[in-house]
Amino acid sequence: MTFCEYRPGLEGVPVTQSSISFVDGKNGILEYRGINIEELARLSTFVETAYLLIWGALPTADELEEFQHEIQSHRRLKYRIRDMMKCFPESGHPMDALQACAAALGLFYSRRALDDPTYIRAAVVRLMAKIPTMVAAFQLMRKGNDPVQPRDDLSYAANFLYMLNEREPDPLAAQIFDICLTLHAEHTINASTFSSMVTASTLTDPYGVVASAVGTLAGPLHGGANEEVIMMLEEIGTVENVEPYLDNCLEKKSKIMGFGHRVYKVKDPRATILQSLAEQLFEKFGRDEYYDIAVAMEKAVAERLGHKGIYPNVDFYSGLVYRKLGIPTDLFTPVFAIARTSGWLAHWKEQLNENRIFRPTQIYTGNHAQSYIPIEKRQSSQDESCWS
Ligand code: SDX
Repeated sequence: MTFCEYRPGLEGVPVTQSSISFVDGKNGILEYRGINIEELARLSTFVETAYLLIWGALPTADELEEFQHEIQSHRRLKYRIRDMMKCFPESGHPMDALQACAAALGLFYSRRALDDPTYIRAAVVRLMAKIPTMVAAFQLMRKGNDPVQPRDDLSYAANFLYMLNEREPDPLAAQIFDICLTLHAEHTINASTFSSMVTASTLTDPYGVVASAVGTLAGPLHGGANEEVIMMLEEIGTVENVEPYLDNCLEKKSKIMGFGHRVYKVKDPRATILQSLAEQLFEKFGRDEYYDIAVAMEKAVAERLGHKGIYPNVDFYSGLVYRKLGIPTDLFTPVFAIARTSGWLAHWKEQLNENRIFRPTQIYTGNHAQSYIPIEKRQSSQDESCWS
């Protein structure tokens, strides 16, 4: 078989066969294992949804209880991981801290038995259990405090907010955060999931798989956009400034954060749900000063760029929800990673079931048959020193 057309960003190129999730970008539909995201957001919990994604079907009551119990009992971090984190600079980005901690787990669980279901289960449980603890621990430690121990009587979502804010969250806040995790859990072959699959295809350990995906999610064109959206709203400052800000972006051809998507040509269904979650929080805890700017921005972008299919994506309203939950801006992407770990693990498992190492090709654009030039005869090809 030959496939010679080069498609930048692999647009439209299938890289796998998968039964985990489905996106209909024209009609704004997202399904996990065939179940609509609106239904899961309304009726399921994050841990149940993660089970669905990873093991392929909704759990029975006993299966769910067992999975929850396993996760609860693996939430604590080894003291060596905590000691390692103490050496991280407080000014470092939490995504870098998370990537390092996820990779470090591979040092403690170095046995690699990818054909052993017990090993797979333990890795899934460990990663789902420890990633939230790592994010919360880094937050407290960079403030000079000891991390808070996880609490077994709290749900996955409530426990994270508890570890982060050092107090038990309001039930509505915990419920809404749980829905946010469900919404971010999985999204077909996005950049970080592809990264996890490529890493998985080498048959390395699952900690390396998740660490590579965390590194990929961090970028502003992917998960890092949620943080950038808040910075953008802050910079805009008032509803009156929305139009001039947009004019400037369009003139400079710069990307408007939280808008556009490779697959969706309508508003991302997750953005619609997140906007309504934000409104529920505002009703109980007070309005966010940036919300009116965000709504005006959505309207103005739709008027100017709607013809190109540019509408809010998942990252546009999520930050407004997280701010109300007391989550600092630079933890928005780590929170995305907490949720997406379940999707990455589902793809890791699927990849292992029918593995072939990813090894694409290239279209070579360089020269051939060049001579080796002795050093004294070379001319610098650099305009200036990179150190100047
Ligand atoms: C996520 O894929 C996933 O599933 C990811 C994700 C997930 O769940 O994992 O949904 C999560 O990562 C959301 C995306 C977060 N990123 C941003 O919000 C950053 C801003 N958006 C973009 O840069 C962009 O829209 C991407 C990266 C999301 C998509 O990039 P594409 O598909 O490569 O599109 P493109 O950059 O080639 O743009 C196509 C056209 C261009 O116009 P033309 O040159 O054809 O005239 O659309 C324009 C672009 O200029 N465009 C934008 C725009 N996004 C696209 N113009 C202004 N602002 C934007 N945000």
